[in-house]
Amino acid sequence: MIEVKDLTAEQAAAELERIAAEMAKADIAYYQDDNPGLTDAEYDSLKRRNQQIEERFPELIRADSPSKRVGAAVKSGFGKIPHRFPMLSLGDVFSLEEVDEFVMGVKRFLNVSENIEFMAEPKIDGLSFSARYEHGRFVQGATRGDGTTGEDITANLKTIRQLPQKLPDGVPDILEIRGEVYMSKADFLALNQKYEAEHKKTFANPRNAAAGSLRQLDASITAERNLSLFAYTWGEVSKRCWDSQAEFFECLKKWGFPTNPHNRLCLSLQEIDGYFNRLMEIRADLPYDIDGIVYKVNSIALQERLGFLTRTPRWAVAHKFPAEKAITKINAIRIQVGRTGALTPVADLEPVNVGGVIVSHATLHNEDEIKRKDIRVNDYVVVQRAGDVIPQVVEVLKEKRQPDSTEFRFPTTCPECGAHAVREEDEAVRRCTGGLTCPAQAIERLKHFVSREAFDIEGLGSKIIEQFYNEGILHSPTDIFTLEERNGSRGPVDDLFAVIDDKALHLERRDGWGKKSVENLFRAINDKRHIELPRFIYALGIRQVGAATARLIAKNYGSFARFMTDMLNQDTERLLSIDGIGEAMAKDIVEFFKEEHNIRTVNRLLEEVKVEDFADNTDYNSPIAGKTVVFTGTLEKMTRAEAKAKALSLGAKVAGSVSAHTDYVIEGADAGSKAKKARELGIRILSEDEFSDLIK
Ligand code: IVH
Repeated sequence: MIEVKDLTAEQAAAELERIAAEMAKADIAYYQDDNPGLTDAEYDSLKRRNQQIEERFPELIRADSPSKRVGAAVKSGFGKIPHRFPMLSLGDVFSLEEVDEFVMGVKRFLNVSENIEFMAEPKIDGLSFSARYEHGRFVQGATRGDGTTGEDITANLKTIRQLPQKLPDGVPDILEIRGEVYMSKADFLALNQKYEAEHKKTFANPRNAAAGSLRQLDASITAERNLSLFAYTWGEVSKRCWDSQAEFFECLKKWGFPTNPHNRLCLSLQEIDGYFNRLMEIRADLPYDIDGIVYKVNSIALQERLGFLTRTPRWAVAHKFPAEKAITKINAIRIQVGRTGALTPVADLEPVNVGGVIVSHATLHNEDEIKRKDIRVNDYVVVQRAGDVIPQVVEVLKEKRQPDSTEFRFPTTCPECGAHAVREEDEAVRRCTGGLTCPAQAIERLKHFVSREAFDIEGLGSKIIEQFYNEGILHSPTDIFTLEERNGSRGPVDDLFAVIDDKALHLERRDGWGKKSVENLFRAINDKRHIELPRFIYALGIRQVGAATARLIAKNYGSFARFMTDMLNQDTERLLSIDGIGEAMAKDIVEFFKEEHNIRTVNRLLEEVKVEDFADNTDYNSPIAGKTVVFTGTLEKMTRAEAKAKALSLGAKVAGSVSAHTDYVIEGADAGSKAKKARELGIRILSEDEFSDLIK
């Protein structure tokens, strides 16, 4: 890979195009297929390269640049559902004074002087939905979308147990119930824990997790996630049989919809103030996230008189909770060590209540961040908590700096194992050089070794790895394959040994384990004694070598022996010829094989497992890899079958008809309707020669 500083403008443009496409693909894999195609590191390195190129060539920034994208990718696979009644949003206010103004405005508009009843409801931090019932049956579900048109999530909503599929007799023939889908804090934490163990990207907060779970093209994925909901308003209704928001909640309960137990009528500003403060107090203890309180005029007759502004009702407002920040003191700065030995500084804080959650530590990211913000032990700092992400230090209160504040000296040795910790040029992180002799790294590497894209050994979760490591049962990946032998439970001979051999592990005697679970574990392990080459390379945990890179290497070398021989000879010629592998990565790979302990581990592993040679000849680096192509008309230089085989071997998908998903149409002589459609859809059309040039 060419370094950014050496790129010509033309190469830069091509690179930006490639990165945009790759990241878009990864986003789709992550957000829509629930199957991240790149590791976080690979994704981040693409993002970094994109940013560096854009900094050098700002004039080449693309409209679809990944740097411009925020949040989840836009889904295209869902059907569209126009809302008969728009799904509106709410105006925000941030203080009691502003609530007062809102209430006065309502009274002025209605020209009344007496108090008006308001329904106060927790504002659930989730995703709004609309569920349509016809003759008491659930027929259609939609997201809010842009408020006018939503996405069809009927199949997804059906998987949420709390949503009634059938309503009791007597409900209006047409009834659209609206509310919020959310993920409870507990379900969110469990999902993230699972993802972490599987080395998948975790969700930043319950809201994102709920959105990612609900907007799944494959509803069976939604079904696996625990989603919950509260109903709070309505859309189209053939006959409204309630006169107030309070009565509506009674109907909802009768019909079997979950409603929030904290919804309350408030008759005065004092009551509103009391309610708001009480909810702020209990906010942290609620099993779901809320980000404010919604006040709605209770009477529907008054609501109708008040009507709507452009996008918000005049009869309701959202009173947002203040941002979750707090001031506290840094008591100490500590270093955590990750799988690749990265040293991450963490601040131990004087425990402080941040928006209802007691925070006692915050990440400081890296050495430079500490310098940049001039963060010192004993400093007073502003900390911030956003959802369930690790709290962060926003700024140092320099005016409160004490004479005892001490500058933090970033260690040059690993706090876990004492090995040198070095920082490469151009790198933000300092790393421990202890490799597998460092316990922190060893545990993280074991977790990586058994993770989904590596050996994928079921039954060896993070907790068990930690326990087994700390008890000396597993220290290196090879130990996994000698577990059964060491367990002392195999056959009559081993049983006999077990009596006299007090070193036998007898996992089946552990708390929470039994004969069956131990057998299952051994089966899962033995199943992996034959392992595909890409998995094996990825499992080694070489820095920068994610699953996609491991696959590139596997594909290019074909066998582990060939790869290892080159690496041991420090011969990187072939490695560097692979599109997608650059100097820095090659250096890391060679470094890995320079370490005596790594070679020992690999050799011992090879005694236990058989690494299969790579059989796939597909060129996943070709310009049409991952693209969908359609051939039309008569090709002259090759037959249709040949063209198709060629495209497939270059990693493309070949489709029979043109759709919005088509990337290229290759047009031979006498092309007909397909080419016409491609033109209408603005899809790139190539002549046979242009296609040959493209894939040359
Ligand atoms: S009522 C016309 N009630 O907040 C009024 N919205 O900022 C429609 N929300 O899009 C909304 N809890 O997603 C209402 N109890 C509640 C709510 C609530 C959460 C969300 C909803 C809406 C957004 C408006």
